[in-house]
Amino acid sequence: MAMPSSASATARMLTVPALLLLLSSAALLVFLILPSLSPSPAAHLCACSPPTTTHTTTTVTTTTTTASPAPVTTSPADVAWLKSQLASNSLPLLASHDAWHRLRKGINPRTREQQLFDINRHHGISHYPDEEATNHTALPCPGELLVEEHHSNYGEPWAGGRDVFEFLANASALTPRDQVLEIGCGTLRVGLHFIRFLEAAKFHCLERDELSLMAALRYELPAQGLLYKRPMIVRGEDMDFSRFGDTVMYDLIYASAVFLHIPDKLVWTGLERLAGKLRPQRGRIFVSHNIKFCSRLGGDECTRRLTELGLEYVGKHTHDSLLFNHYEIWWQHHTPELVQDKTAEEEEEEEAEAEGWPSPSEAEEIAAAGAGDPLERVLLLYLDGSV
Ligand SMILES: C[S@@+](CC[C@H](N)C(=O)[O-])C[C@H]1O[C@@H](n2cnc3c(N)ncnc32)[C@H](O)[C@@H]1O
Repeated sequence: MAMPSSASATARMLTVPALLLLLSSAALLVFLILPSLSPSPAAHLCACSPPTTTHTTTTVTTTTTTASPAPVTTSPADVAWLKSQLASNSLPLLASHDAWHRLRKGINPRTREQQLFDINRHHGISHYPDEEATNHTALPCPGELLVEEHHSNYGEPWAGGRDVFEFLANASALTPRDQVLEIGCGTLRVGLHFIRFLEAAKFHCLERDELSLMAALRYELPAQGLLYKRPMIVRGEDMDFSRFGDTVMYDLIYASAVFLHIPDKLVWTGLERLAGKLRPQRGRIFVSHNIKFCSRLGGDECTRRLTELGLEYVGKHTHDSLLFNHYEIWWQHHTPELVQDKTAEEEEEEEAEAEGWPSPSEAEEIAAAGAGDPLERVLLLYLDGSV
């Protein structure tokens, strides 16, 4: 029997809120449980560290809360935000040296030398004097490191380390679980960013220079609060990677500003030892600056030697710096069996299949047919990014 129109309106008023309530409860449920069932599509570009994990244990339950992931790439929105902050505080984007000098007004910055002089003679009101000077610190650190002399060790500024990280992390679709080796990590100008991003013990480095190792271990790791990441930094100069273990496989191996300083023969020794440790299909080797160790052999011979090692030259990349007018050049190698990179759609389809959810294309079909129960509709909305 047809309902009178007022009764029909009343029924709608009762049904729509009830339906909305049902949908929002289901959406909330799905929203809460989905992240724990499948990684977010952006997860591979996110650091899930430091893992500020709290465990609340009662006799029956354990609750885990993880800090929000840190993005690898500085987005255009980040840059726009920073520019707006500079503008709203009336700060210039660029200042000439003279203008910079004028800004100092009465402030006379102390040079590293002056700071070091003061540290060495325990100048100031809050330093423990004489023999007490190192009794009150767990990790007494040489003054040269405290004034960060090592930040000026390289041709490019310290900030270039972040640029290298951003390029390599994006180019290799790095995830926090990946295993990474840096050949010649120096003072950790680049490595710090990897250590922060990766899970504990996932960063390995072979470095020959004692001063750099001191800077890395005695200053940078404690000063950056990264000791808990337990990076494996090994002293050595002869491409002996045995201390990292026989079974380790790397997702990323890189040499930043290193191979150009090493005899070609030693570079090839390193490649011979590492080629078999590159995770098949996924692993990449990146080399910066130039590949003269290869090109000096002549094109064909260079290719032959790489092929013999099971390596294939992929291509040359450049990467702009965020903070200064500079770009990095990188050469990428991988194992030749590498299958074509999947498209984002293919990855989503596979992910959905593995999790038992409708794939985006199936979701479209269901949506087009107007089928599905409320929970399924909420799920489709979620997949669609609408919830
Ligand atoms: C220019 S620095 C670059 C450091 C770091 N990769 C970066 O980009 O900040 C070169 C580093 O390679 C290291 N190195 C040179 N030859 C090496 C070798 N045979 N084995 C291990 N490290 C080496 C040097 O000691 C130095 O720390």
